[in-house]
Amino acid sequence: MKLTRSFLDHVATKHGPSFYLLDAPRFQDNFMRLTGAFRAHYPETTIAYSYKTNYVPRYCELVSQLGGYAEVVSSMEMMLALKLGVPASKVFFNGPYKEHEHVLALLQAGGTVNIDSWEELQRIARSADQHDGEPFKLGLRCNFEVHDGVLSRFGFDTDSQPFLDAVALIDGHPKLKLAGLHCHFATRSLDCWKNRTQGMIAVIDRYFRHRLADLTHVSLGGGMYGHMPEDLKVQFPVTIPEFDDYAAAAALPFARYLDEVGGKHRPTLIIEPGTALVADAMKYVCQVNSIKHVRGRTVVSLTGSSYNINPNPNRKNVPIECFPDPAVADRTEMSGAYFGGYTCIEGDYLYKEFSGSLAVGDFIAFDDVGSYSVVMKPPFILPNVAIVEPLGDGERYKLVKRRETFEDIFHTYTFE
Ligand SMILES: Cc1ncc(COP(=O)(O)O)c(C=O)c1O
Repeated sequence: MKLTRSFLDHVATKHGPSFYLLDAPRFQDNFMRLTGAFRAHYPETTIAYSYKTNYVPRYCELVSQLGGYAEVVSSMEMMLALKLGVPASKVFFNGPYKEHEHVLALLQAGGTVNIDSWEELQRIARSADQHDGEPFKLGLRCNFEVHDGVLSRFGFDTDSQPFLDAVALIDGHPKLKLAGLHCHFATRSLDCWKNRTQGMIAVIDRYFRHRLADLTHVSLGGGMYGHMPEDLKVQFPVTIPEFDDYAAAAALPFARYLDEVGGKHRPTLIIEPGTALVADAMKYVCQVNSIKHVRGRTVVSLTGSSYNINPNPNRKNVPIECFPDPAVADRTEMSGAYFGGYTCIEGDYLYKEFSGSLAVGDFIAFDDVGSYSVVMKPPFILPNVAIVEPLGDGERYKLVKRRETFEDIFHTYTFE
């Protein structure tokens, strides 16, 4: 996405001094490259986009256009998928807490629910007693050791009796069908991808080898790094894998296993990327509000906050681009400057150790901010900003979300 000062001025005049820019071609390219990498080993791979990572409807629409599925973890995300016209058969409902009425609505419409606990399964089984349509399609979230130093709290311990009980309960109920298996581990390393794939293969081999044809899907979850420029990669203590590396760690052994156990049945291999698709498909733009020197440090105060780009206190310096205000001649040279946010939180820094020249009114565009940003921004101090989609000619754009107002924040409160 090529940006110019005049384009940013144009958007800011209408929508305020800070806003997001949505990069649809980049998102589409990520989707195609990741799908291609996995399909090179296992052609029956499909992406189920993790809505929670960034549920801006425009991205979710692109996923549908590209043939992807929807991975949702809440009623609101499920309703969004259906509102966008995603067929229920392409919606996969995950997560530790699901509102039962919405679970039932999805199951009745032919969607799939991946069960997290015994209690959740019992609730669904009780509702299935009264159901007289096609059996409800269920998956089981599998939890096993992936040697990433994390004891995951999600799903069924596949070495435990409750896992076997869950399989037995589903098998014994005429209106429930075990359609698939699911896992997700947040660790983005290649080792984690190798281990989760081996773990899922071990579960399949141990319990389902004799009935592979029952499994219509096997989901390996999300948790992959997206494409990053070199200066961002070097800030991580690990080597950042490419999409091909993840595919070789997961799709290749999965394909080999299925070749080995024989049979024609090839379950759909689902991956649930969020970050890998959307991280570098969104920029955040804000303006320099003040520049001051405080006890030896230059502090550049911005019209944006770290909450707009990444709530994680260990955030990296994402790539930035500055767009000087041509009307200001008096610029400040600085080195080691900190970019502070608009909140009253001491640690609210968007960037550390900047060297260069800036002036009040300059725009700063932060790249790689699409993942867990828009969806995790609290209504603290300022409402949400606008999201616009540049249309590629350097001038025109589409408004994806207007900036929020006082009314948006306060209309759910009662005023006596
Ligand atoms: C079940 C599940 N799938 C997919 C994802 C997406 O993860 P990421 O954005 O890291 O790819 C998550 C994130 O928490 C998740 O919980």
